[in-house]
Amino acid sequence: MPSNFVAKGADGYEATMGRWSKRLAAPFLDFSRVPSRGSVLDAGCGTGSLTLALAAHPDLTAIEAMDFEEDFVAALRKRTTDPRINAQKGDVCALPYGDGEFDGVYSLLVLHFVSDPYQAVREMRRVLRPGGTAAATVWAYGGLPSWRLFWDAILALEPKVADKDPRTKRPMTGEGELRATFESAGFADVADSVLTIHMDYANFDDYWYPMVYGQGTFGSFFDGLPQARRDQLRDAVRAAYLGDDSDGPRGFATVALAVRGTA
Ligand SMILES: C[S@@+](CC[C@H](N)C(=O)[O-])C[C@H]1O[C@@H](n2cnc3c(N)ncnc32)[C@H](O)[C@@H]1O
Repeated sequence: MPSNFVAKGADGYEATMGRWSKRLAAPFLDFSRVPSRGSVLDAGCGTGSLTLALAAHPDLTAIEAMDFEEDFVAALRKRTTDPRINAQKGDVCALPYGDGEFDGVYSLLVLHFVSDPYQAVREMRRVLRPGGTAAATVWAYGGLPSWRLFWDAILALEPKVADKDPRTKRPMTGEGELRATFESAGFADVADSVLTIHMDYANFDDYWYPMVYGQGTFGSFFDGLPQARRDQLRDAVRAAYLGDDSDGPRGFATVALAVRGTA
């Protein structure tokens, strides 16, 4: 299986992560040096946050988008009528494109879910023309404080859910890992950076419902618990979210690591 990502439908993804990947796409593309014209690839496009940000560059002539999840590819197709965009199912570790086809290849929040990220980065380089740029970003280890707050509160009460805890360190999320992977794949002029976005929630419900009913394996576990236990878990997470203040907006500065290199 080339993907370690647990998908639970495009709508759930939008509610839990798509809303933030949209926000991360802008600073990531600023960092990535998108070519002023030519063809580009969004490798691991999901529901299209980065693809649609790339489409805002009017002089790009072709925008390929591919992802392992058929549902996500279908959702992206529904979201756009831009004739430059072509979305298809595929594996980043065996890209369905010829050598040197693209001027730029980008990957937003994907490499930490790919079973062989080293092979994926070699593939990103293979499909670039000489002189083209690739860039990738992943959440830094510990970089999702809003999710840590949720899981810390849940696990204190419900150790049985430990096997669903997403806080374990994923590949590429450590300091310098992306850079070393790009260098070992043969990229030149490798540069890395830290990108920060603000994850802001309108109130506790806006924070809680996507976590419980959206993406990930926690939702079905939670649904299987007795109502009293569900209320207890919700109250614990609510107390952590509120932090002795009244309900309302809360924001979490969230850090991603980014790398770029030239083929
Ligand atoms: C967190 S999502 C990011 C999606 C999108 N780039 C975004 O930022 O919203 C991770 C994505 O990586 C995709 N993925 C994981 N392994 C993959 C592989 N081997 N080939 C293609 N896509 C893969 C998943 O299907 C999922 O859509």
